[in-house]
Parts: sequence; structure tokens; C-alpha cells
Amino acid sequence: MLAVAVFVALLGCLRAQELRGHVSIVLLGATGDLAKKYLWQGLFQLYLEEAGKGHNFSFHGTALTATEQGQEVVAKVLESLSCPKDVAPARCAELKDQFQRLSQYRQLKTTEDYAALSKDIEALVQREGLWEAGRIFYFSVPPFAYTDIARSINSSCRPGPGAWLRVVLEKPFGHNHLSAQQLATDLGSFFHEEEMYRVDHYLGKQAVAQILPFRDQNRKALDGLWNRHQVERVEIVMKETVDAEGRTSFYEEYGVIRDVLQNHLTEILTLVAMELPPDISSSEDVLRHKLQVFQALRGLRRGSAVLGQYQAYSEQVRRELDKPAGFLSLTPTFAGILVHLDNLRWEGVPFLLMSGKALDERMGYVRVLFKNRACCAQSEQHWVAEQSACLPRQIIFYIGHGALGSPAVLVSRNLFRPTLPGSWEEVGGPPGLHLFGRPLSDFYAYSPVREQDAYSVLISRIFHGRKDSFITTENLLASWAFWTPLLDSLAHEAPRLYPGGAENGHLLDFEFSGGQLSFSVQQPEQLVPGPGSAPAPSDFQVLRSTYRDRPLVTAWPEELIAKLADDIEAAAMKAVRRSGQFHLALSGGSSPVALFQQLAMGHYAFPWAHTHLWLVDERCVPLWDPESNFQGLQTHLLQHVRLPHYHVHPMPVHLRQRLCAQEDQGAQAYAEEISALREITLLVSRVGHEPKKWPISGVQPVSGQLVWYMDYEAFLG
Ligand code: BG6
Repeated sequence: MLAVAVFVALLGCLRAQELRGHVSIVLLGATGDLAKKYLWQGLFQLYLEEAGKGHNFSFHGTALTATEQGQEVVAKVLESLSCPKDVAPARCAELKDQFQRLSQYRQLKTTEDYAALSKDIEALVQREGLWEAGRIFYFSVPPFAYTDIARSINSSCRPGPGAWLRVVLEKPFGHNHLSAQQLATDLGSFFHEEEMYRVDHYLGKQAVAQILPFRDQNRKALDGLWNRHQVERVEIVMKETVDAEGRTSFYEEYGVIRDVLQNHLTEILTLVAMELPPDISSSEDVLRHKLQVFQALRGLRRGSAVLGQYQAYSEQVRRELDKPAGFLSLTPTFAGILVHLDNLRWEGVPFLLMSGKALDERMGYVRVLFKNRACCAQSEQHWVAEQSACLPRQIIFYIGHGALGSPAVLVSRNLFRPTLPGSWEEVGGPPGLHLFGRPLSDFYAYSPVREQDAYSVLISRIFHGRKDSFITTENLLASWAFWTPLLDSLAHEAPRLYPGGAENGHLLDFEFSGGQLSFSVQQPEQLVPGPGSAPAPSDFQVLRSTYRDRPLVTAWPEELIAKLADDIEAAAMKAVRRSGQFHLALSGGSSPVALFQQLAMGHYAFPWAHTHLWLVDERCVPLWDPESNFQGLQTHLLQHVRLPHYHVHPMPVHLRQRLCAQEDQGAQAYAEEISALREITLLVSRVGHEPKKWPISGVQPVSGQLVWYMDYEAFLG
């Protein structure tokens, strides 16, 4: 019972209190780890900040734990709360005492318990002659409990008319797009969108929360810099030294991409990449601009990722989850991802996302590295940080830990002197400190005057209704829609094993080229384990024979693609010499992607300016649809080469506002046929001239020659 009722924080504020009303904060899971470590402290911080402004509070710690036991745990937590450094000990003790009197534990299990809580809040408000401003329910409980709790709140614990309800939810919000959608639908049946506050605690990290204000306050300086012409690349990194021991049951299901990339790092990416709204204090505008970033994200492919797993992980899983001796997990504990945005601001700029457990250090940062076009005549010792265009130019939002040890914003002195709010101050850092290849003195460096943990920041934002610091349903689903196809395609991929800590050496370094990521150091691999001389791909030569009475070239996929690309280039050169132009007909789907990439990245002498491109098949979707073959051609080839627009000939599947005008599911059937490649080669070798059923059997050039290129897998089966 809240018999002690509401404590008047400052006597002089009675009038203001009347105006601002009473807010009840219900912490569900009040005896759990997160609550003990951060949430109670965050609530205390809120009380310190707001009570003096006339706000009136009651704090209800709740859990399934029995009353007496729960009370004990909560009492201990309340005892351990700390005040900011600038509060004198006596004053701190006084404030803690006030907060403790406003905080109560109660068991909350049944719908009746929720109804009783609601009644108690109403009685309290009435007794004190206050009015109810709103209720906050903080769900610090596992997601499987969400729906039942949501139902009980909705049916029995909503505040009366005129008062607001805010429910705060902790991740994970689903496991993929479908489960996130399901959870969102369930919650949506109990709460309105504006009532839900989904937490991503990285949005409360001070350096992350500073990204938009920094961009806003330095608009003028950044105007010409924050774009593809100036930015070389963006790195968004979260390194951890801890591993997943003790939480493998969670981790086995999630892995690093779902655990931190889909949420924390993606959220950061949107803050860096979004078009800056004219007024960043408008939550609606910020959220709308965030969504536009999701719309511009280019779909990820298998080659967009490198995956690792620390060596001890499988053993930990076997032990903690009681798996058989031979069990090997495929769950990645490290990932590097290459992301591109297809919009005018960011086209061509690599965004590199990286996170992992059991790495050599704990640190997080966003690094915007600018292009450097300077050609320097003077030697390095004469370079002056403020003036030299020869030094690297970068802006870093340093999230915390690492060598610097605190959140910071760093701006290379050769860029501009930034403006930061008064709550940030210029700092020097320990002498001799180097960050990102340069001494700290090369940067204007700012840190928060008062360091705050992420949860305190977010609790304050919930209280102030700042929805833009939280994840809306639309935002969440857009993020899962982006990540789910990649997660599906990686489901059976074996991650590279790494020893953990400093011993990782360069094993996890990776690089990007042609839209693909790969580890920089090749891992010595044996194709077939054991002694003897098992054949490796390089042991085979390109074979020539015949297929359907025509020449056949066959090899391992890589060699075959290289050979095919060489032959196409030779044919193109010959054709252009002879007639001034070359016509290349390409198929769609995923099969020719490797060829497109080879042509795009390895054939600089190709006469693209004289080449016409045709597609031999297309799906029944508009050309702008990511599923269309034309889009595949665009992504993997066209955007990397210089081909006159009028030399590109997409198939006219979308005419007169109609698509193919067939209802026979031709697109799906075709996709299945592509994936059933092996049977097709056998079948095509046997069928006669049946172009209606097998269009490829109708290819009968009237001049030139038909050559079949088929890799060993397809050819030998
Ligand atoms: C959580 C992840 O969201 O973030 C953890 O589930 C991770 O795996 C943690 O360790 C990192 O947060 P912080 O605040 O310690 O950087």
C-alpha cells in the first residue's frame, strides 16, 4: 500500500504540482537484473530531475515474486542508489529517503492484482487532492510474458480519461520479420501506437543521442560534407570483450546480427544517414525521415556479410544446453556487414557495420571518414592539424569505453570547429593517446560534462514523451524486412572460428570490393580432410567437349566464370572492331550474378560504350521491383560500368499498366526451374527442338557459333 502517499518534493512548488499532476511508474520485473542494474537508478535520476519542477510521482516495483521477498530485494536496491557527484552526501541521503518513501513493491500476477493496483493509484491521487497525469508501465520481463501483461493492463489498469498511458518494452522484438509482425499485432490489439515505447538502449547512449543535435547545430559546416561526394565510408562498430557464456540459450536463437546489428547498429545508421528534418525536436519528422532511410537501403546478399564464432562457443552451448558431444553451432558471434543506400546522398558510400563478442577490446563508435583529395608537397613534420588538407578528415561519435573511456564527439581539426551544447565540454584526454591513427590533439574533442547511463537518458525521454528516441512498429518492421532475407540466406553458413581476445590477430579483419565483403586473411582450409591427394579445384583444367552437338566449356565455377567473361570480352572487341557495336543478351535470376560481377570488376577494357544489353527473360514484375531480372542487372553490372542509357534494353513486361497479363504463376515456376539446374542440364541435353517448352533449345544462331558454358556441378551432377 502506498500509505505514505505522495511526498511533496519542494514545498514552494505546490501550485506547479497541482498543474502538472501525478504520474505513477510501474516497473514490471522490478527484482530482475536489468531493473537492479539500471532501471531503479534511472527512476531515481528522473525523480531528482523532475520532482523539483513540480511533478508528482509514485513508483511501483512489481514482479511475480512474493511480496515479502520482493520487498527485501527492492529495499536493497533502493539502498544502493547513488546521486550525481555534485550532490552533497547529506542532501543525497535526504533525496534517497524521499524516493524510498515513494517506492513500493507489490506482487502482480493476476488480472485482479492489476485492478487492485489501479484502484490504489486512484485512491492515492484522490486522497492527496491531485489529478492523474499518466501511468508508465516498464516491461522489464521476457517477451513471452508481454501479451498476458498487456491484456491485464488494457483491461484493468488503464488510467481514466484525460490521463496518458505509456508502456515501455525491451527487446527482443521478434526473431525475424514474421515473428516481429506477430508480436506487433498482438500488442497492437491492446495498445495504441502512441502508447508504446520500444527501447533500444543504444539510442540513450550520450554519443548516439548527440548525432542528430550535432548534425543540426553544425548544419552549415556539414552541408557540403555529409554526402557521397565527400564521404569515403562510414563505420558503425560495437566491439565487446565478453562472450555469451551464461546466456547461450538466448544467444543460440539470436546470434550477433539479431542481437545487436538489427537494432543498435541499424538505429545508429539511420541517424547518420537520414535527411535532417528542419526541426529535429519534432518526433514525427525524425521518425518519418528514419523510415525513408529504410526505404533507401539496398537489399543485402550473402556476400554482404562475413561471419565469425569464437572457438569456445560451441562447447559453452553443449554444456549449457545439454547438447550431444558432437554438436557444433553455426550461430555467429561476430559479423561484418556491408550496407549501401540507393539515394542521391549516399549512393556508392560503404556503410560498414561490425560487432562481435570475445574481441580484443570493448568499445563502440561511429566513424565518418571523408575523402582526401589533397596532394601534399610539404613533408609530414610541417603539417599543422588545423590547416593541413593532407591529414585524414573524420568525425567520430565515440560511444564509450576503449582507450578514451568516455563518450565523445571528435572532429578533425582540418574540418571545422564544431558547436556542441553546453552540456558537452572540450577535453584533452590522456597524454600520448592516439585514436583512429591520429593523436587526440588532431581532433576537437568534446565529452559530456555529466556522464549518464543510457537508461537514465531514455527514462527521462519516456517521461517527456519523446517518441523519436524509441522504435515505432513501422520502424521495427522495416528493420526486420531489411535483415530477414540475409539472416535466411546465412542460416547454414559456417562462421569462421576465432580464438578470442588479442589472439584473434588479423583473423577477423575484412575488406570490401565490388559490393562484397571477405576476410582479408585467407584461412588455410582443406577441402577433404585426411591424408592423400584429394583433388582441389585448381587441379582441374578447363575441359572442352560437346553438348547438344555444340562446343562445351566446363570447369569449376570460378574458373568457368573467368573464362566466360574473357571470351565475352574477346567477342565484344572483335564485334566492335568489325561493326562498331556489340550486342550481349543476358539471362536473369541469381545464376549470372557472378558473371556480372566479374565483368563489372575485372574487365576494364570492355567496350561498354559500344555494347547493347538485352535480357533474355524477365519476371512478371515491374522493372523497379527488386525481384525483376532487370534490377539484378542494374545492381550487379549496370551501376558499375559506363553504358549509354539508350543501349540498355529491358524486357517490356510492363506495358499499358499491365504486367504480363498471365495468371499462371510463370515467375515462380521459372525461379524453381533455375534452382533445379542439374536436372535441367540433363533434360536440355536430351530434348530436341522444343522452344515453346524449353526456350533455350530454340537458340539456333544463323551466324556465329553457339558455345555452352557449364560448371562441373551442373555438368557432372
Ligand atoms: C545488448 C545485447 O542489447 O547490448 C548484449 O543483448 C550486449 O549482447 C549489450 O552485450 C551491450 O550493451 P552495452 O551497453 O554494454 O554496450
